[in-house]
Amino acid sequence: MMSSVLTPDIRIGPAADGDYEGVMAISEGIYMGVDYLPYRYHAWLKDPQRRMFVAKSEGKVVGFDSFLLVDDGITAVVQGLRVADWMRGCGVAGILQRFCFKTLRSDHPTVTRVRLTTVENPPATMLNTYHIIHSKAVISVFISAEQLDETIKILESRVSSTCDNCIPPVFLEYSDVHNLFPGRLKEEDLLPGGFLMQAWLPITTNKANLDLMQRWKVQWLCSYPCDALCDVTGSSELHDVKGSFDVNIGFLSLGSPMFPVPLGEGKHRLNIDVFGTDLSFAKIHILYQFKEAVKKLSTGESIICFVYLDESLHGGLNDFFEGFTPFKFCREQLVLEMDLTSIKIA
Ligand SMILES: CC(C)(COP(=O)(O)OP(=O)(O)OC[C@H]1O[C@@H](n2cnc3c(N)ncnc32)[C@H](O)[C@@H]1OP(=O)(O)O)[C@@H](O)C(=O)NCCC(=O)NCCS
Repeated sequence: MMSSVLTPDIRIGPAADGDYEGVMAISEGIYMGVDYLPYRYHAWLKDPQRRMFVAKSEGKVVGFDSFLLVDDGITAVVQGLRVADWMRGCGVAGILQRFCFKTLRSDHPTVTRVRLTTVENPPATMLNTYHIIHSKAVISVFISAEQLDETIKILESRVSSTCDNCIPPVFLEYSDVHNLFPGRLKEEDLLPGGFLMQAWLPITTNKANLDLMQRWKVQWLCSYPCDALCDVTGSSELHDVKGSFDVNIGFLSLGSPMFPVPLGEGKHRLNIDVFGTDLSFAKIHILYQFKEAVKKLSTGESIICFVYLDESLHGGLNDFFEGFTPFKFCREQLVLEMDLTSIKIA
């Protein structure tokens, strides 16, 4: 059983079911109302790969942090860090993080690196400990319940005007997902840095990570590369396709199941990660993922849709969403990494 750490005012210990209200009380307004923690908190507690911690002052929750063990136990991804607004700037975040690092060293000695994702312009002090290893552009839009049908029509028209000859991408079974890397897709073509981004989670393509995503019901959508297409279509069709698609490397996207967010009744957040640099593929993947997600909404529910993409697609996909209501949350998603074996923890 892990012991708690006592500082002059702050006590850090494992988070429990009973801390939910306290953690929610310090989370108000976080991430402009699209915070994932209210929805995930209890499921996270049950996950054997995750550890969650609360910082308390005078018995009251003033901070929260967690990590998830991934990549076969080599990497810990820190997620959910937050400090009560009345306690910010007092070093609580630093204390929580050092507690996580010490716990990793003592309880999970196979972990050699720590990763996190954050938005653009992280505080300079973070870059003393972490270095940036990857970034993706972010486009996010709000689509009200009334706009959903029209949105699909608009996106369909914008897809079909660019890809009349396109071979539809396919949603994969997890048996196919396990054979993708290495296999019909190449990491070096589609996954810069060698890892997947699933929503804000940077992980490698190893089996255990894919199993995690299966449990979370992440939807894999794939456009296979040229050779695979040849098998299916025959060469004459392929000739047309080649005009507008980067058929040689294929394209991949992940659609994470939507979840309700605190922003308002019936508002759901949808995360779509796209992998590859071909604009035509990107558009059709977003359309397919969006349509698939919308099927699960009930009447009157709306979506805040986040798309994470290669920077080179930013201009083209901005045009794809032209006229939609922007949800201005961030411009970029950064992946930061730190070598846990080399840092000094005070
Ligand atoms: C970001 C936040 C947790 C900082 O809390 P804080 O207690 O004011 O931070 P402090 O000034 O006391 O401590 C700063 C330490 O946290 C680190 N830090 C700041 N922002 C961070 C972040 N987003 N992720 C990880 N570490 C962060 C700093 O590098 C610094 O580290 P050091 O002590 O080793 O120098 C707080 O502002 C917050 O809750 N914001 C809203 C939620 C949020 O944006 N969370 C970040 C998720 S990526």
